[in-house]
Amino acid sequence: MDDVFEIMSTTRSMRRLKPDPVPDELIQKILHAGLGAANGGNTQKWRFMVVKDPAIKQAVQVWYKKAFDEVVGPRYASSAPPPGITGDKYKRQHGAVEYLTDHFHEAPVWIVACLEDGPNPNRSAGASVYPAVQNMLLAIRALGLGSTLTTRHLQFAKETEAALGLPPGVHSYAILPVGYPMGKFGPTGRGKMSDFVFGDKYGEVWAPLAGA
Ligand SMILES: Cc1cc2nc3c(=O)[nH]c(=O)nc-3n(C[C@H](O)[C@H](O)[C@H](O)COP(=O)(O)O)c2cc1C
Repeated sequence: MDDVFEIMSTTRSMRRLKPDPVPDELIQKILHAGLGAANGGNTQKWRFMVVKDPAIKQAVQVWYKKAFDEVVGPRYASSAPPPGITGDKYKRQHGAVEYLTDHFHEAPVWIVACLEDGPNPNRSAGASVYPAVQNMLLAIRALGLGSTLTTRHLQFAKETEAALGLPPGVHSYAILPVGYPMGKFGPTGRGKMSDFVFGDKYGEVWAPLAGA
């Protein structure tokens, strides 16, 4: 697939992945797409780990699951569906979230997006690595592979970054579990554009969208 607009509108979270290995050449293509992204001052303080070691993935998954049991699961159970999502779809999403929780470590490869951001990263730090993450998600989709942008491990950042072996001054910003998808891709589900886009005055719908 190479129509970028089609890719962007169908890059869904793929939480059910086959354990089959993904060739390193494809991972290199994905990383190449990531390294093409913008980053502040072009300082390129991003670092990416390609993690395949089952022991490392398992050690992180334990914390990923703990965060689900203690925070994410209860939140899902008590929250309303987001804009543009029916109750049924939301339930299905919750099922997929639970599936990934239990099978996180079984994805054949993880790409862990990190930054050499020093001891006290500020609010803009992630802006120098998330464009690369999004580029990689789009490349993963274009190659027919699946992934999900995950940050839940950060609820136990100290423990999971120790399990990943990150040195001082380096922090992780996302883990992308990558594999061949079990399911099919479909369009992303979002609310109406007019609910999110304002013109000159915050809160007032941008004129071309009025009535849409
Ligand atoms: C900052 C961020 C963090 C996320 N963290 C997780 C995560 O830890 N686990 C997970 O299953 N999905 C995670 N997601 C995926 C979102 O839940 C997902 O993109 C959203 O529900 C929309 O669904 P879609 O990607 O299928 O369109 C994250 C997405 C973003 C942007």
